[in-house]
Amino acid sequence: MSHHHDDNKRRFWITGASSGIGHALAERLAGQGDHVAVSARSEEALNALAAASGKVTAHPLDVTNREKVHQVIDAIEAEGPIEVAVLNAGAWFLMDAVELDVDKVRQAVEVNYMGVMYALEKLIPLMKERGEGHLVLMASVAGFRGLPRSLAYGPTKAALINLTESLKPELEKFGIHVTVINPGFVDTPATQDNPFPMPDIITADEAAKHIAKGIDKQKVEIIFPWRFAVAMKLLRILPYRPFYWLMRRIMSQ
Ligand SMILES: NC(=O)c1ccc[n+]([C@@H]2O[C@H](COP(=O)([O-])OP(=O)(O)OC[C@H]3O[C@@H](n4cnc5c(N)ncnc54)[C@H](OP(=O)(O)O)[C@@H]3O)[C@@H](O)[C@H]2O)c1
Repeated sequence: MSHHHDDNKRRFWITGASSGIGHALAERLAGQGDHVAVSARSEEALNALAAASGKVTAHPLDVTNREKVHQVIDAIEAEGPIEVAVLNAGAWFLMDAVELDVDKVRQAVEVNYMGVMYALEKLIPLMKERGEGHLVLMASVAGFRGLPRSLAYGPTKAALINLTESLKPELEKFGIHVTVINPGFVDTPATQDNPFPMPDIITADEAAKHIAKGIDKQKVEIIFPWRFAVAMKLLRILPYRPFYWLMRRIMSQ
């Protein structure tokens, strides 16, 4: 059943909406008449989104700034409740184990994981008070297993998947839905320079279409594209011996 009706527009907050998937999702939702508050560091990109649609309001922030995250949530809530929060801001780093860069690892943890936490600590009490709300966490199929050169990024996404599993049964009692998004490869500024093949890669707009539909259905998990998703689901349950055999093969390609 769809929870979206033409006469019942919703109020969204999307972080990481200045480019890529978040940007495409903001455009899509505003295009169908929903109100969308957009956040990221790049103020200009957010202002351009707002200038293009009367449904969009720009709220620049750095998600690693806890106080600022709370201030932005207050500012959006002053205009009306955040019904759906899409916590999508994320940073992708390739890193070799033999070139471990702890500062970059900390940055990935602070943006991808703590950035979500700062939003949650403010949003959960608000949504609990209202007895409704929808929290949407952007993880990745890269969080299913540890992957070569993904040591700074993969664990933050694994943590978000685990976090969703932890939150969902607790929060549904208060009418709060929790959804995790696990995309495969999406063509965005983040993946543009990847030095490896990206099977089944889709556009940011296609990703946004999957996400909008999944949010509408209040799905527990939004995962796409289907073929790569199935492969990653299988990889997730593969025993260690065949898993490492496969990883060695992938690395020697
Ligand atoms: N592309 C893929 O293949 C893929 C696959 C699975 C999951 N994902 C996830 O999807 C999400 C969006 O990624 P994308 O591919 O669309 O990449 P992207 O175009 O680089 O978008 C990342 C967004 O996050 C924002 N951001 C980064 N650091 C931030 C910070 N400290 N504070 C606030 N905003 C910040 C960026 O805006 P500013 O730089 O303006 O702050 C940008 O709007 C990420 O969480 C990513 O991990 C992507």
